[in-house]
Amino acid sequence: MPRVVIFDETGDPDVLHVVDEPATEPAAGEVRVRIEAIGVNRLDQLMRTGAFPRPFRLPHARIGCEGTGTVDALGAGVEGLAVGDPVLITAVPAMDLDGTYADYTIVPAARLIPRPAGLDAVGAAALWVAYSTAYGALVAKAGMRPGDHVLITAASSGVGLAAIQIANQLGAVPLATTRTSAKAQALREAGAAAVFVADEVDVARAAREHTGGTGVEIILDSIMGPGLADLATAATFGGTLVTVGWLDPRPASMPMNAPLTIHRYMSFEHTLDPEAVRRMAAFFGAGLRTGALHPTVDRVFTLDKAAGAHRHLEQGNQLGKIVITT
Ligand SMILES: NC(=O)c1ccc[n+]([C@@H]2O[C@H](COP(=O)([O-])OP(=O)(O)OC[C@H]3O[C@@H](n4cnc5c(N)ncnc54)[C@H](OP(=O)(O)O)[C@@H]3O)[C@@H](O)[C@H]2O)c1
Repeated sequence: MPRVVIFDETGDPDVLHVVDEPATEPAAGEVRVRIEAIGVNRLDQLMRTGAFPRPFRLPHARIGCEGTGTVDALGAGVEGLAVGDPVLITAVPAMDLDGTYADYTIVPAARLIPRPAGLDAVGAAALWVAYSTAYGALVAKAGMRPGDHVLITAASSGVGLAAIQIANQLGAVPLATTRTSAKAQALREAGAAAVFVADEVDVARAAREHTGGTGVEIILDSIMGPGLADLATAATFGGTLVTVGWLDPRPASMPMNAPLTIHRYMSFEHTLDPEAVRRMAAFFGAGLRTGALHPTVDRVFTLDKAAGAHRHLEQGNQLGKIVITT
């Protein structure tokens, strides 16, 4: 019997459990996907703990906003896909109903793209949310150009490592932050031009010094919290701050340096737009072909160990994406 990970109440990772459920049939315009691998995201953790920004169904909430697998069944009217095609799911807006932590899920055909050549299921599961978020924030919102200095906080995250690679692919200069020195060398090896360890230096000052006092053109922040205003002082006159996460749940401080353009970015802004998805997929395909882009997988768990995957996420020791396989 096909398996689905659900939770009936919000709480710690152990609220996640596997139930057996028959796969349902796709309606017109939909596709049933046989899931092979799932990328674990902070959004999943926010949902599981009840900190999710939108209401969702309980009990019996599904979970998971990205995944990859093969086409298993086609609803009426779906064209351009065949049973067995390897695909990647680009957005799951109703995670509680269609979450990807399962053997099967059903999504609109428009939410699928071919799995990029050269990636196995685990690598593909680590691609989409991290790279689309980094690309959308840096390229679509901040207009990153060659030569720009880009300060990337929580750079060992899936989004952070994707941002380092995308900055390098476009000729920008990625500057990485991490909380402790444990991951500093790994971040240099991942392509960071410099690494600032928050426990050891004032990150904003270090970034200004690194740019000869000018400041960075772009800050990509996944942390927020009370340190945001100080972080923003790393920006050059007229720079851009894009915040994509909220790893520090405390209230964020308002940047006061100006002029500064601030964006609060959510990747759904682009991943629900087929034209934006087409362009991102082309960019990722090119980067994967040249080797400029290469998803970083930290650790792989099996579906029955989804709670363990969430515990590992919460420990914060990862470098890159945590992936679940079915
Ligand atoms: N806007 C969007 O559409 C979107 C999409 C995807 C993800 N996100 C956000 O992007 C962020 C990263 O997500 P992810 O899934 O790629 O990575 P992740 O696995 O959540 O990143 C974990 C890394 O962040 C650092 N970190 C953890 N807690 C921290 C804290 N309280 N303060 C500072 N750093 C902390 C740690 O690195 P060090 O130990 O090296 O410091 C840790 O390895 C999350 O906030 C997530 O919500 C946003």
